[in-house]
Amino acid sequence: MTVALTRLLESERAAFVAKRPRSHQLAERARPHWLSGVPMHWMADWGTPYPLFVARAEGVTLTDVDGAPYTDFCLGDTGSMFGHSPPAVASAIALQASRGLTCMLPDERVAAVGEQLAQRFGLPVWQVMQTATDANRAALRWARALTGRPKILVFQGCYHGTVDETMVRRRQGRAVMREGAIGPALDYSQAAMVVEFNDVPALERALQSGDIAAVIAEPVMTNIGMVLPAPDYLETLQALCRRHGTLFIVDETHTLSSGPGGYAGAHGLSGDFWVCGKAIAGGLPCAVLGFTADVEARMQRVLASRTGGHSGMGTTLAANPLVFAALEAALGHLHTEATHTTMQEAANRLEQRLLKIFTDRSLDWHVSRVGARIEFGFGPAPGNGSEAEAAMRPELEHALHLWLLNRGLLVTPFHNMMLTAPMLQRSHIDALCAGIAGFLDIVDRASLRTIPPS
Ligand SMILES: Cc1ncc(COP(=O)(O)O)c(C=O)c1O
Repeated sequence: MTVALTRLLESERAAFVAKRPRSHQLAERARPHWLSGVPMHWMADWGTPYPLFVARAEGVTLTDVDGAPYTDFCLGDTGSMFGHSPPAVASAIALQASRGLTCMLPDERVAAVGEQLAQRFGLPVWQVMQTATDANRAALRWARALTGRPKILVFQGCYHGTVDETMVRRRQGRAVMREGAIGPALDYSQAAMVVEFNDVPALERALQSGDIAAVIAEPVMTNIGMVLPAPDYLETLQALCRRHGTLFIVDETHTLSSGPGGYAGAHGLSGDFWVCGKAIAGGLPCAVLGFTADVEARMQRVLASRTGGHSGMGTTLAANPLVFAALEAALGHLHTEATHTTMQEAANRLEQRLLKIFTDRSLDWHVSRVGARIEFGFGPAPGNGSEAEAAMRPELEHALHLWLLNRGLLVTPFHNMMLTAPMLQRSHIDALCAGIAGFLDIVDRASLRTIPPS
C-alpha cells in the first residue's frame, strides 16, 4: 500500500517528535535567546519540526542528545568530508590548544605548510582565510585590482558563500539580485554578469565586453543540485579567460572530493586562483587561496603602488596556530591518495546501487558524482543551473530527508547530496540504499513523477 506525500510527511513529523524529547526541550530553551532558536538562522531550515541537537560526532556517526545515532552522509555539508574529528587532526589540535590559540604572527609551521600546499595543489603562492567565503571575496578583490576591470562573471545557480557580488541570478536574460538575499548594500547585479554553465557562446559574448575581471566557478556546480561540465567545457572556459585577459578563480570548496589535488589536480585544470575551504583543515574553520607566480608578481606591483592602510582583505584570527596544526595534519593524513581511494570506492558502490534502485522502479532520476560526492535528482541530469532549478521538488526532498533521518540516515537538507567518508562501511551504504528504496516504495507513484522543464 502506498501513501500520499503529504500524509507521509505528517506521520514522519510525528515520528520525529515522538523520539526526540530532549532536542525538543533544548529547542524550547534556546528559542528566546537565538534568532529562530538557532545560532545561525538557516540552521532552522532542515525541515524538522525543531532542530536536532547534537551530543557528539565521530567518524561517520553523529549522536543526538536523545542518544539516537545517525550515519552521516551530510558531514556538515563537506566540512567533515573526511569524517568527524579525524584522529590526526583532532590530536594535532589538542596538542596545540595549550600552546597558543591566536598570536597574529606566523606560526613555526608556516614555511612547511606552504611547501606542502604548493606540492599538493600545484600553485606556488598561498594565503590563509577563515572561510571559503572570505577566500572568494579576497580573490575577487584581487582580480579587480589586478585587471582594473569592474565586473565579475558567475554561473546561473552558483553559490560561492555569502560574497555579495556573487549573490545574483539570471532572470529574463539579465542579472538581478538573488531572491531571498537580505539587506544588500548595493544592487550587485551592476557588478556581476550571469551566464548559464556549459553555454560557450554566452560566455564568449560576456567576456568580449572587456569588463570582466574574473570568472569564478566550481568545476562541477554543486549548489543547485549537481551540474557536470560538458566535455571540453572547462578547457574552453580556461582558454577564453586567457584570451580575454580575465582571471579564472576555481572554487574547489566542494569538488575537493575529486581527489587529493582536487578537481584541478585530477583533470589538469589550471586557474589563476584556487580556493578551498570547509574540509581543507579537516573541519576546523580554515580556507586557502592559492595563485600563480604571475598573479603574485602583479599583486606585488599593486602592494608597492598603494599608500598603505587596510587592504579590505583578511581577518585578525584566520592564520592562527590552531589552524596551522590542523592544516598540517590534514595535508599529511587526509589529502592523500590512500584516503581518496577509499572514499571513491565507497562512492562508486553508492552510485551503482542508487542507479539500480531508480532503474528497477522505472524512474528517470539521475545520479551525478564528483569523486566522493554524489547527488541524485528528479529527472534526467541537468545541463545548466536553470534546468537544475526547474527540476527541483522541495516537498519531495523534504519528505525523503525526514524519512531517512527518522531511520538514522543523515543527508544534506538542501537537494540530495551524500558524501562518502573514508571510514564508511558497506553496511552503511546498504542501509542508506534500503532507506531510499523503502521511501520510493511507500510514496504514491504520482508524487514521484518528475515535472518536465518548461
Ligand atoms: C562552492 C562553495 N564555495 C564557497 C562556500 C562558502 O563556504 P563557507 O560557508 O565555509 O564560507 C560554499 C558553501 O557552501 C560553497 O559551496
